[in-house]
Amino acid sequence: MILSEKEILSYIDEVNLLLEKAYVPYSKFPVAALLIDDNGNIHKGVNVENASFGLTLCAERNAITTGITGNMKKIRLLVVTGNTPEPISPCGACRQVIKEFSDKDTVIILTNKNRKYRITSLDELLPYSFGPEDL
Ligand code: THU
Repeated sequence: MILSEKEILSYIDEVNLLLEKAYVPYSKFPVAALLIDDNGNIHKGVNVENASFGLTLCAERNAITTGITGNMKKIRLLVVTGNTPEPISPCGACRQVIKEFSDKDTVIILTNKNRKYRITSLDELLPYSFGPEDL
């Protein structure tokens, strides 16, 4: 997926708006994710915490599960943000789940509230990964 700077910033603004929807009474660490699937549809997710802390759901995986419900087969673009000084870094579990629905063309943009961003790929985030093709 080829994106202009203007498009990148507009997706970043859109995902940053989502941060206020995160349910984070315990960590106060909101995360939001927006993805565009292979049909061109947008799916979104925020982290949802729980009084039983281990049941917390990450923003990236919430966006992906919503995507699957909406017929997503592959992720074309994933934008993840947090209220962090540097572009947010997805957790290991999310990297593995992103892998399941990524291919070599999947673009991943990590960003933050100040619109600082880094364009990356699943291969960079999770080198020598295990995926559906390995079974
Ligand atoms: N979190 C995410 O939503 N995604 C990540 O990739 C990193 C961590 C959430 C989980 C928890 O609600 C909060 O950030 C602090 O760990």
